[in-house]
Amino acid sequence: MSASSKRPLSRKFAHYPRLNPLGVGRNISAADLVDQTMLAYNGGRLREACQLLTRKMLPEDGFVGLSLTGALTPAGLGKSCLIPLMKAGFVDWIVSTGANLYHDLHFGLDMHLHSGSPFMDDVELHREGVIRIYDVLFDYNVLLDTDAFVREVIQGPEFQRPMGTDEFHHLLGKYVSERGRRLGLKDSSVLAAAYECGIPIFTSSPGDSSIGMNVAAMALRDSRLMFDVNRDVNQTAGIVYHAKSTRHTSSVFILGGGSPKNFMLQTEPQIQEVMGIREKGHDYFLQCTDARPDTGGLSGATPAEAVSWGKVDPDKLPDSVVCYTDSTLALPLISAYVLSRVPPRPLKRLYDRRDAILDAVKTRYLKTGTVTKVTTSRKIAKRGSSVGLKKR
Ligand SMILES: NC(=O)c1ccc[n+]([C@@H]2O[C@H](COP(=O)([O-])OP(=O)(O)OC[C@H]3O[C@@H](n4cnc5c(N)ncnc54)[C@H](O)[C@@H]3O)[C@@H](O)[C@H]2O)c1
Repeated sequence: MSASSKRPLSRKFAHYPRLNPLGVGRNISAADLVDQTMLAYNGGRLREACQLLTRKMLPEDGFVGLSLTGALTPAGLGKSCLIPLMKAGFVDWIVSTGANLYHDLHFGLDMHLHSGSPFMDDVELHREGVIRIYDVLFDYNVLLDTDAFVREVIQGPEFQRPMGTDEFHHLLGKYVSERGRRLGLKDSSVLAAAYECGIPIFTSSPGDSSIGMNVAAMALRDSRLMFDVNRDVNQTAGIVYHAKSTRHTSSVFILGGGSPKNFMLQTEPQIQEVMGIREKGHDYFLQCTDARPDTGGLSGATPAEAVSWGKVDPDKLPDSVVCYTDSTLALPLISAYVLSRVPPRPLKRLYDRRDAILDAVKTRYLKTGTVTKVTTSRKIAKRGSSVGLKKR
Protein backbone atom coordinates (compact mmCIF):
# COMPACT_ATOMS: atom_id res chain seq x y z
CA MET A 1 0.00 0.00 0.00
CA SER A 2 1.49 3.36 -0.99
CA ALA A 3 2.43 5.76 1.79
CA SER A 4 0.24 8.38 0.12
CA SER A 5 -2.91 6.47 1.13
CA LYS A 6 -1.91 7.03 4.77
CA ARG A 7 -1.33 10.72 4.19
CA PRO A 8 -3.61 12.84 6.42
CA LEU A 9 -6.34 14.81 4.71
CA SER A 10 -5.27 18.22 3.42
CA ARG A 11 -5.14 20.76 6.27
CA LYS A 12 -8.53 22.19 5.27
CA PHE A 13 -10.23 18.87 6.13
CA ALA A 14 -7.76 17.43 8.65
CA HIS A 15 -10.04 18.24 11.60
CA TYR A 16 -12.42 15.47 10.59
CA PRO A 17 -11.67 12.42 12.79
CA ARG A 18 -10.33 9.24 11.16
CA LEU A 19 -13.07 6.64 10.73
CA ASN A 20 -11.50 3.59 12.33
CA PRO A 21 -13.93 1.91 14.78
CA LEU A 22 -13.23 -0.99 17.16
CA GLY A 23 -15.32 -4.14 16.97
CA VAL A 24 -18.57 -4.16 18.98
CA GLY A 25 -17.98 -5.79 22.39
CA ARG A 26 -20.44 -8.15 24.20
CA ASN A 27 -21.77 -5.71 26.82
CA ILE A 28 -21.41 -2.41 25.03
CA SER A 29 -23.81 0.24 26.33
CA ALA A 30 -26.26 1.93 23.97
CA ALA A 31 -24.39 5.22 24.40
CA ASP A 32 -21.02 3.65 23.61
CA LEU A 33 -22.56 1.82 20.65
CA VAL A 34 -23.74 5.17 19.29
CA ASP A 35 -20.42 6.96 19.91
CA GLN A 36 -18.21 4.15 18.63
CA THR A 37 -20.11 2.63 15.70
CA MET A 38 -22.48 5.27 14.26
CA LEU A 39 -19.92 7.19 12.26
CA ALA A 40 -21.49 7.93 8.88
CA TYR A 41 -24.75 8.58 6.98
CA ASN A 42 -27.83 8.67 9.22
CA GLY A 43 -26.04 6.67 11.88
CA GLY A 44 -23.59 9.57 12.01
CA ARG A 45 -26.45 12.05 12.24
CA LEU A 46 -27.93 10.03 15.11
CA ARG A 47 -24.62 10.26 17.00
CA GLU A 48 -24.50 14.01 16.33
CA ALA A 49 -28.12 14.26 17.55
CA CYS A 50 -27.21 12.52 20.82
CA GLN A 51 -24.16 14.74 21.30
CA LEU A 52 -26.09 17.94 20.44
CA LEU A 53 -28.72 17.09 23.06
CA THR A 54 -26.20 16.21 25.78
CA ARG A 55 -23.52 18.82 25.07
CA LYS A 56 -25.51 21.89 23.91
CA MET A 57 -29.30 21.64 24.32
CA LEU A 58 -29.44 20.44 27.95
CA PRO A 59 -26.49 22.23 29.62
CA GLU A 60 -27.01 25.52 31.50
CA ASP A 61 -30.63 24.63 32.02
CA GLY A 62 -31.45 25.17 28.35
CA PHE A 63 -35.16 25.07 27.46
CA VAL A 64 -36.08 21.99 25.41
CA GLY A 65 -39.35 21.79 23.48
CA LEU A 66 -40.39 18.38 22.12
CA SER A 67 -42.74 17.99 19.13
CA LEU A 68 -44.43 14.63 18.58
CA THR A 69 -45.95 13.26 15.38
CA GLY A 70 -46.31 9.83 13.90
CA ALA A 71 -47.85 6.98 15.90
CA LEU A 72 -45.28 6.95 18.71
CA THR A 73 -47.30 6.25 21.88
CA PRO A 74 -49.20 3.29 20.33
CA ALA A 75 -45.73 1.77 19.77
CA GLY A 76 -45.01 2.07 23.52
CA LEU A 77 -42.53 4.96 23.15
CA GLY A 78 -44.41 7.04 25.71
CA LYS A 79 -43.72 4.52 28.49
CA SER A 80 -40.27 3.42 27.30
CA CYS A 81 -38.74 6.78 26.31
CA LEU A 82 -40.84 9.95 26.69
CA ILE A 83 -41.77 9.50 30.37
CA PRO A 84 -38.16 8.76 31.51
CA LEU A 85 -36.95 11.85 29.57
CA MET A 86 -39.71 14.00 31.11
CA LYS A 87 -39.06 12.80 34.66
CA ALA A 88 -35.31 13.43 34.23
CA GLY A 89 -36.11 17.09 33.46
CA PHE A 90 -34.91 16.81 29.83
CA VAL A 91 -38.26 17.96 28.30
CA ASP A 92 -39.69 21.35 29.36
CA TRP A 93 -42.69 21.70 27.05
CA ILE A 94 -44.41 19.56 24.42
CA VAL A 95 -46.44 20.07 21.23
CA SER A 96 -48.10 16.82 20.19
CA THR A 97 -50.68 15.52 17.78
CA GLY A 98 -53.95 14.60 19.46
CA ALA A 99 -53.35 11.06 18.22
CA ASN A 100 -50.28 10.52 20.40
CA LEU A 101 -52.17 11.80 23.47
CA TYR A 102 -55.31 9.79 22.72
CA HIS A 103 -53.36 6.55 22.35
CA ASP A 104 -51.35 7.45 25.47
CA LEU A 105 -54.66 7.23 27.39
CA HIS A 106 -54.87 3.50 26.63
CA PHE A 107 -51.63 2.93 28.59
CA GLY A 108 -52.77 5.32 31.36
CA LEU A 109 -55.95 3.24 31.74
CA ASP A 110 -54.00 -0.05 31.70
CA MET A 111 -55.57 -1.22 28.44
CA HIS A 112 -53.80 -3.84 26.34
CA LEU A 113 -52.08 -3.17 23.02
CA HIS A 114 -50.21 -5.94 21.22
CA SER A 115 -47.13 -6.20 18.97
CA GLY A 116 -48.68 -7.89 15.91
CA SER A 117 -47.81 -7.97 12.22
CA PRO A 118 -48.35 -5.53 9.36
CA PHE A 119 -49.46 -8.39 7.13
CA MET A 120 -52.94 -9.06 8.55
CA ASP A 121 -56.31 -9.53 6.81
CA ASP A 122 -57.98 -6.23 7.71
CA VAL A 123 -61.43 -7.43 6.65
CA GLU A 124 -61.06 -10.27 9.14
CA LEU A 125 -59.73 -7.86 11.78
CA HIS A 126 -62.79 -5.64 11.23
CA ARG A 127 -65.08 -8.68 11.60
CA GLU A 128 -63.24 -9.66 14.80
CA GLY A 129 -63.33 -6.10 16.22
CA VAL A 130 -59.56 -5.66 16.15
CA ILE A 131 -57.89 -2.32 15.34
CA ARG A 132 -54.49 -2.14 13.56
CA ILE A 133 -51.89 0.67 13.55
CA TYR A 134 -49.38 -0.86 11.12
CA ASP A 135 -48.21 -3.81 13.32
CA VAL A 136 -49.85 -2.71 16.61
CA LEU A 137 -53.14 -4.51 17.40
CA PHE A 138 -55.79 -3.83 20.03
CA ASP A 139 -59.48 -4.56 20.66
CA TYR A 140 -62.12 -2.12 19.39
CA ASN A 141 -63.30 -1.77 23.00
CA VAL A 142 -60.02 0.00 23.78
CA LEU A 143 -61.26 2.89 21.61
CA LEU A 144 -64.82 2.77 22.93
CA ASP A 145 -63.70 2.66 26.60
CA THR A 146 -61.12 5.43 26.09
CA ASP A 147 -63.75 7.61 24.37
CA ALA A 148 -66.14 7.03 27.31
CA PHE A 149 -63.38 7.92 29.81
CA VAL A 150 -62.74 11.24 28.01
CA ARG A 151 -66.46 12.10 27.85
CA GLU A 152 -67.03 11.26 31.53
CA VAL A 153 -64.01 13.27 32.71
CA ILE A 154 -64.80 16.42 30.70
CA GLN A 155 -68.30 16.59 32.18
CA GLY A 156 -66.53 17.95 35.32
CA PRO A 157 -67.23 21.59 36.36
CA GLU A 158 -63.56 22.56 35.90
CA PHE A 159 -63.89 21.83 32.17
CA GLN A 160 -66.95 24.01 31.54
CA ARG A 161 -65.17 26.99 29.93
CA PRO A 162 -62.77 27.93 27.09
CA MET A 163 -59.15 26.97 27.87
CA GLY A 164 -55.77 26.51 26.26
CA THR A 165 -54.88 22.94 25.26
CA ASP A 166 -52.09 22.99 27.89
CA GLU A 167 -54.67 23.54 30.64
CA PHE A 168 -56.97 20.89 29.13
CA HIS A 169 -54.18 18.28 29.01
CA HIS A 170 -53.11 19.21 32.56
CA LEU A 171 -56.61 18.62 33.92
CA LEU A 172 -57.05 15.43 31.85
CA GLY A 173 -53.62 14.28 33.06
CA LYS A 174 -54.74 14.76 36.67
CA TYR A 175 -57.57 12.25 36.14
CA VAL A 176 -55.29 9.78 34.33
CA SER A 177 -52.76 10.09 37.16
CA GLU A 178 -55.49 9.40 39.77
CA ARG A 179 -56.81 6.43 37.76
CA GLY A 180 -53.27 5.09 37.42
CA ARG A 181 -52.74 5.34 41.18
CA ARG A 182 -55.97 3.45 41.83
CA LEU A 183 -54.88 0.77 39.30
CA GLY A 184 -51.43 0.53 40.90
CA LEU A 185 -49.72 1.73 37.69
CA LYS A 186 -46.36 3.55 37.65
CA ASP A 187 -45.10 5.82 34.86
CA SER A 188 -47.65 4.54 32.35
CA SER A 189 -48.95 7.74 30.78
CA VAL A 190 -47.32 10.80 29.16
CA LEU A 191 -50.36 12.92 30.13
CA ALA A 192 -50.14 11.79 33.77
CA ALA A 193 -46.36 12.32 33.88
CA ALA A 194 -46.76 15.82 32.39
CA TYR A 195 -49.34 16.64 35.06
CA GLU A 196 -47.04 15.32 37.81
CA CYS A 197 -43.98 17.17 36.40
CA GLY A 198 -45.74 20.46 35.52
CA ILE A 199 -44.86 20.07 31.82
CA PRO A 200 -47.30 21.92 29.50
CA ILE A 201 -48.58 19.87 26.54
CA PHE A 202 -50.13 21.70 23.58
CA THR A 203 -51.90 20.31 20.53
CA SER A 204 -51.68 22.37 17.36
CA SER A 205 -54.82 20.86 15.83
CA PRO A 206 -57.02 19.88 18.80
CA GLY A 207 -60.03 18.96 16.68
CA ASP A 208 -58.05 16.50 14.56
CA SER A 209 -58.13 13.50 16.90
CA SER A 210 -60.42 11.19 18.84
CA ILE A 211 -60.00 13.48 21.87
CA GLY A 212 -61.27 16.39 19.76
CA MET A 213 -64.12 14.23 18.45
CA ASN A 214 -65.32 13.42 21.96
CA VAL A 215 -65.05 17.05 23.09
CA ALA A 216 -67.11 18.04 20.03
CA ALA A 217 -69.76 15.40 20.78
CA MET A 218 -70.10 16.67 24.37
CA ALA A 219 -70.60 20.21 23.00
CA LEU A 220 -73.82 18.86 21.47
CA ARG A 221 -74.72 17.95 25.10
CA ASP A 222 -74.17 21.57 26.22
CA SER A 223 -70.59 21.11 27.40
CA ARG A 224 -68.99 24.57 27.45
CA LEU A 225 -65.47 23.21 26.97
CA MET A 226 -63.77 25.04 24.07
CA PHE A 227 -60.10 25.09 22.98
CA ASP A 228 -58.62 28.60 23.10
CA VAL A 229 -56.10 28.39 20.26
CA ASN A 230 -55.19 32.07 20.69
CA ARG A 231 -53.98 31.27 24.19
CA ASP A 232 -51.96 28.36 22.75
CA VAL A 233 -50.23 30.54 20.14
CA ASN A 234 -49.33 33.23 22.70
CA GLN A 235 -48.52 30.80 25.54
CA THR A 236 -46.03 28.86 23.39
CA ALA A 237 -44.45 32.13 22.20
CA GLY A 238 -44.40 33.18 25.86
CA ILE A 239 -42.36 30.09 26.80
CA VAL A 240 -39.70 30.88 24.18
CA TYR A 241 -39.69 34.59 25.14
CA HIS A 242 -39.30 33.51 28.79
CA ALA A 243 -36.31 31.31 27.90
CA LYS A 244 -34.56 34.03 25.90
CA SER A 245 -35.38 36.95 28.23
CA THR A 246 -33.91 34.94 31.14
CA ARG A 247 -30.74 34.28 29.11
CA HIS A 248 -31.42 30.58 28.45
CA THR A 249 -31.18 28.79 25.14
CA SER A 250 -34.32 27.58 23.37
CA SER A 251 -34.03 24.23 21.59
CA VAL A 252 -36.46 22.20 19.52
CA PHE A 253 -36.41 18.38 19.47
CA ILE A 254 -38.69 17.33 16.59
CA LEU A 255 -39.91 13.76 16.08
CA GLY A 256 -41.49 13.38 12.65
CA GLY A 257 -42.76 16.72 11.39
CA GLY A 258 -46.34 17.82 10.68
CA SER A 259 -48.33 20.53 12.36
CA PRO A 260 -46.61 20.16 15.78
CA LYS A 261 -43.23 20.93 14.16
CA ASN A 262 -44.56 24.14 12.69
CA PHE A 263 -46.40 25.12 15.88
CA MET A 264 -43.19 24.82 17.87
CA LEU A 265 -41.06 26.71 15.31
CA GLN A 266 -43.63 29.48 14.63
CA THR A 267 -43.09 30.77 18.18
CA GLU A 268 -40.13 32.75 16.85
CA PRO A 269 -41.97 34.50 13.97
CA GLN A 270 -44.81 35.19 16.44
CA ILE A 271 -42.27 36.99 18.69
CA GLN A 272 -40.27 38.69 15.91
CA GLU A 273 -42.58 39.18 12.90
CA VAL A 274 -45.97 39.61 14.59
CA MET A 275 -45.08 41.06 18.02
CA GLY A 276 -42.09 43.05 16.71
CA ILE A 277 -39.84 41.88 19.57
CA ARG A 278 -36.10 41.62 18.79
CA GLU A 279 -35.11 37.92 18.66
CA LYS A 280 -32.74 35.74 16.61
CA GLY A 281 -34.48 32.36 16.50
CA HIS A 282 -34.30 29.04 18.33
CA ASP A 283 -30.76 28.10 19.27
CA TYR A 284 -30.61 24.35 18.61
CA PHE A 285 -32.62 22.30 16.10
CA LEU A 286 -32.77 18.51 16.25
CA GLN A 287 -35.13 16.52 14.01
CA CYS A 288 -35.63 12.81 13.34
CA THR A 289 -37.92 12.30 10.37
CA ASP A 290 -38.61 10.25 7.27
CA ALA A 291 -39.86 13.35 5.48
CA ARG A 292 -37.81 14.64 2.55
CA PRO A 293 -37.06 18.34 1.82
CA ASP A 294 -37.38 18.32 -1.99
CA THR A 295 -41.17 18.02 -1.97
CA GLY A 296 -41.39 21.40 -0.27
CA GLY A 297 -43.56 20.32 2.70
CA LEU A 298 -43.09 21.63 6.25
CA SER A 299 -42.24 18.21 7.67
CA GLY A 300 -39.13 17.92 5.49
CA ALA A 301 -38.18 21.60 5.60
CA THR A 302 -34.56 21.88 6.74
CA PRO A 303 -33.17 24.01 9.59
CA ALA A 304 -31.38 26.08 6.95
CA GLU A 305 -34.74 26.94 5.38
CA ALA A 306 -36.04 27.75 8.88
CA VAL A 307 -33.20 30.29 9.24
CA SER A 308 -34.67 32.29 6.35
CA TRP A 309 -37.93 32.59 8.39
CA GLY A 310 -36.08 33.67 11.55
CA LYS A 311 -37.14 30.39 13.20
CA VAL A 312 -33.52 29.27 13.84
CA ASP A 313 -30.59 31.52 14.83
CA PRO A 314 -28.27 31.70 11.77
CA ASP A 315 -25.20 31.67 14.05
CA LYS A 316 -26.32 28.30 15.48
CA LEU A 317 -27.23 26.64 12.16
CA PRO A 318 -23.97 24.62 11.99
CA ASP A 319 -25.06 22.84 15.18
CA SER A 320 -28.42 21.74 13.83
CA VAL A 321 -28.97 18.05 13.07
CA VAL A 322 -31.52 16.23 10.91
CA CYS A 323 -31.47 12.43 11.10
CA TYR A 324 -33.47 10.79 8.32
CA THR A 325 -34.70 7.73 10.13
CA ASP A 326 -37.68 6.12 11.80
CA SER A 327 -38.40 7.69 15.20
CA THR A 328 -39.08 4.23 16.60
CA LEU A 329 -35.36 3.44 15.99
CA ALA A 330 -33.95 6.85 16.90
CA LEU A 331 -35.86 7.70 20.09
CA PRO A 332 -34.87 4.60 22.15
CA LEU A 333 -31.18 5.14 21.26
CA ILE A 334 -31.28 8.88 21.93
CA SER A 335 -33.12 8.31 25.24
CA ALA A 336 -30.67 5.64 26.44
CA TYR A 337 -27.76 7.84 25.41
CA VAL A 338 -28.86 11.02 27.18
CA LEU A 339 -30.13 9.25 30.32
CA SER A 340 -26.76 7.52 30.71
CA ARG A 341 -24.65 10.59 29.90
CA VAL A 342 -26.50 13.44 31.67
CA PRO A 343 -27.63 13.59 35.32
CA PRO A 344 -31.31 14.48 35.88
CA ARG A 345 -32.12 18.22 35.86
CA PRO A 346 -34.50 20.05 38.22
CA LEU A 347 -37.98 20.24 36.68
CA LYS A 348 -38.84 23.74 35.36
CA ARG A 349 -42.60 23.15 35.93
CA LEU A 350 -43.46 25.76 33.25
CA TYR A 351 -47.14 24.86 33.57
CA ASP A 352 -47.22 26.14 37.16
CA ARG A 353 -45.94 29.54 35.89
CA ARG A 354 -48.13 29.74 32.76
CA ASP A 355 -49.99 32.96 33.68
CA ALA A 356 -46.82 34.85 34.58
CA ILE A 357 -45.15 33.58 31.38
CA LEU A 358 -48.07 34.87 29.27
CA ASP A 359 -48.20 38.21 31.12
CA ALA A 360 -44.50 38.81 30.49
CA VAL A 361 -44.71 38.41 26.71
CA LYS A 362 -48.02 40.32 26.58
CA THR A 363 -46.54 43.26 28.49
CA ARG A 364 -43.53 43.36 26.19
CA TYR A 365 -45.72 43.04 23.09
CA LEU A 366 -48.10 45.82 24.10
CA LYS A 367 -45.02 47.99 24.72
CA THR A 368 -43.30 47.31 21.35
CA GLY A 369 -45.87 45.78 18.98
CA THR A 370 -48.11 47.62 16.52
CA VAL A 371 -51.29 46.78 14.60
CA THR A 372 -49.78 48.45 11.56
CA LYS A 373 -46.71 46.99 9.83
CA VAL A 374 -44.10 45.91 12.35
CA THR A 375 -40.71 47.63 12.22
CA THR A 376 -38.59 44.52 12.10
CA SER A 377 -35.50 44.22 14.27
CA ARG A 378 -33.94 41.96 11.68
CA LYS A 379 -30.85 43.47 10.03
CA ILE A 380 -31.77 43.16 6.34
CA ALA A 381 -28.99 44.01 3.87
CA LYS A 382 -29.39 47.38 2.09
CA ARG A 383 -30.86 46.77 -1.38
CA GLY A 384 -29.36 48.98 -4.02
CA SER A 385 -30.93 49.27 -7.44
CA SER A 386 -31.29 46.14 -9.53
CA VAL A 387 -28.55 47.39 -11.76
CA GLY A 388 -25.84 44.73 -12.12
CA LEU A 389 -27.98 41.98 -10.61
CA LYS A 390 -27.38 38.71 -12.55
CA LYS A 391 -30.37 38.25 -14.92
CA ARG A 392 -31.57 34.62 -15.16
N1 LIG B 1 -57.22 8.42 16.55
C1 LIG B 1 -56.74 9.64 16.36
O1 LIG B 1 -57.06 10.56 17.07
C2 LIG B 1 -55.76 9.87 15.22
C3 LIG B 1 -54.98 8.83 14.71
C4 LIG B 1 -53.98 9.15 13.76
C5 LIG B 1 -53.78 10.47 13.34
N2 LIG B 1 -54.61 11.42 13.83
C6 LIG B 1 -54.41 12.83 13.46
O2 LIG B 1 -53.88 12.92 12.15
C7 LIG B 1 -53.02 14.08 12.06
C8 LIG B 1 -51.70 13.70 11.39
O3 LIG B 1 -50.96 12.85 12.25
P1 LIG B 1 -49.39 12.89 12.17
O4 LIG B 1 -48.92 14.28 12.18
O5 LIG B 1 -48.81 11.98 13.14
O6 LIG B 1 -49.19 12.38 10.68
P2 LIG B 1 -48.00 11.71 9.94
O7 LIG B 1 -47.96 10.28 10.29
O8 LIG B 1 -48.16 12.12 8.53
O9 LIG B 1 -46.66 12.37 10.52
C9 LIG B 1 -46.28 13.68 10.33
C10 LIG B 1 -44.87 13.70 9.81
O10 LIG B 1 -44.00 12.89 10.60
C11 LIG B 1 -43.31 11.95 9.78
N3 LIG B 1 -43.31 10.66 10.48
C12 LIG B 1 -44.42 9.94 10.82
N4 LIG B 1 -44.06 8.80 11.45
C13 LIG B 1 -42.69 8.81 11.49
C14 LIG B 1 -41.72 7.91 12.03
N5 LIG B 1 -42.06 6.76 12.63
N6 LIG B 1 -40.41 8.23 11.91
C15 LIG B 1 -40.04 9.39 11.32
N7 LIG B 1 -40.90 10.28 10.81
C16 LIG B 1 -42.21 9.99 10.88
C17 LIG B 1 -44.14 11.84 8.52
O11 LIG B 1 -43.31 11.66 7.40
C18 LIG B 1 -44.76 13.19 8.40
O12 LIG B 1 -43.87 14.04 7.74
C19 LIG B 1 -52.80 14.60 13.50
O13 LIG B 1 -53.57 15.75 13.76
C20 LIG B 1 -53.33 13.43 14.34
O14 LIG B 1 -53.88 13.86 15.59
C21 LIG B 1 -55.57 11.17 14.78
